[in-house]
Amino acid sequence: MDYHDLLARLGEGSAHPGGFTATMQLLDTLSLPAHSKVLEVGCGTGRTACYLARNGYRVTAVDLNRQMLEKAVRRARRERLDIRFIQADVKSLPFADHYFDVVFVESVTIFTQWRSALAEYKRVLKPGGLFIDREMVLSGRKTEVMSRRLKQFYGIRTLATMTAWKKRLRQSGFIGVLVNEQSRSMGKWGVDHDPHREMDMSLFEDEHVQRMGRTNDRLLARYGKRLGYAVFEAKTSMDKGSKQKE
Ligand SMILES: C[S@@+](CC[C@H](N)C(=O)[O-])C[C@H]1O[C@@H](n2cnc3c(N)ncnc32)[C@H](O)[C@@H]1O
Repeated sequence: MDYHDLLARLGEGSAHPGGFTATMQLLDTLSLPAHSKVLEVGCGTGRTACYLARNGYRVTAVDLNRQMLEKAVRRARRERLDIRFIQADVKSLPFADHYFDVVFVESVTIFTQWRSALAEYKRVLKPGGLFIDREMVLSGRKTEVMSRRLKQFYGIRTLATMTAWKKRLRQSGFIGVLVNEQSRSMGKWGVDHDPHREMDMSLFEDEHVQRMGRTNDRLLARYGKRLGYAVFEAKTSMDKGSKQKE
């Protein structure tokens, strides 16, 4: 079982810095145009996707993990929401070019090869489309051992500073790159009641899971102070073919 399988079995609804409260606050500040076509990438158990759909957006949501998606589908069904869920890998999104008004991502890109992920986000966005990504960033010193341990346990593929992420976004052809929200620490992940959480209770008797819990605590105690997060906001150029820089 890897870290994402564990999150899936836990039924975690908001597995990102700031939790669901931060997501709602962010969406409030963004005031997306009514009925926007939104793609949520790495939707996990679908809590954000459902929130977006409840707010009138036309939502498509993808994730690589089947169990996450099954829980997301059941969540949407219980909430009587019409969301298109698809199992897909960020590196090859099953959508036509320039299809979505908004691509919304929370704590996913760090687990992928960032170049292909950013290229895919940009490809599926309409000209002038909006890209939002909340990701963990490096806020202190990085060592080889730290990188290796975090990558090994969480499956993270890239650990970069906020400045490096901004540069990556520009290199990938996004314009108007800005940081909407940032923190030098991972902060408290708002604990709030998720009425549709499906938690696999047998997890707590599983020794492997208990060991994973202890490793997680150890890693956060050791490296948590050097990790923060940022919400990046960027746009695609109005010109379909352009590789325009900011
Ligand atoms: C930390 S969880 C965040 C889930 C959700 N965005 C949230 O905030 O609760 C990361 C999610 O990204 C998904 N994921 C990781 N790599 C992916 C990839 N290459 N393509 C699609 N989804 C991926 C995982 O399955 C998992 O659901």
